[in-house]
Amino acid sequence: MLEHLFTQNREWARAISTRDPQFFQKLSEQQAPEYLWIGCADSRVPANEIVDLLPGELFVHRNVANLVIHTDFNCLSVIEYAVAVLRVKHIIVCGHYGCGGVRAALQDRRLGLIDNWLRHIRDVRLRHRAELDALPSEDSQVDRLCELNVAEQVLNVCQTTMVQSAWEEGRKLEVHGWIYSLQDGLLRDLAVGVSDAAGAQALLLRNH
Ligand code: CO
Repeated sequence: MLEHLFTQNREWARAISTRDPQFFQKLSEQQAPEYLWIGCADSRVPANEIVDLLPGELFVHRNVANLVIHTDFNCLSVIEYAVAVLRVKHIIVCGHYGCGGVRAALQDRRLGLIDNWLRHIRDVRLRHRAELDALPSEDSQVDRLCELNVAEQVLNVCQTTMVQSAWEEGRKLEVHGWIYSLQDGLLRDLAVGVSDAAGAQALLLRNH
């Protein structure tokens, strides 16, 4: 069953071990990533590969449309572990243009359970309705909503108790909002980065 995946796995592990014979042994003893990546589950946006990082260098959480929901204990647990235990220095929320989840949130068709998840993006859409309605095509609306959604999720990360506590303790912790283009494989910084509570407040006022 799926033998080719096991074959590829053996080749992958052998290639890494050839470069660094101690690689897996060292990594099995501890992980010390500097970054938490919160991205979309889309198969075309593989976190480690995009930024060319090895196992052990990136702590990753992915879900449909890279959402950080205030009551999602899955995502919150990842953030807590990354901030409190791994003590990452950067949290990167990375969206991508042409996101299917964002596109579905722009349309008003009923899809099922996922509508309750996408409701959070529909709230963002509602908040920026005038700007989105002024755009010339659905594709451009989707792409702009992808950007606005990243900014909103950056805010949500900033508002978690874990990040607020880290800042209160005077720890250096930066939250970044990036977007990835499927067209050219490149990342763009959306300039919604925040490094303290005052910065989070400023972003909130700018976006709401
Ligand atoms: Co997506």
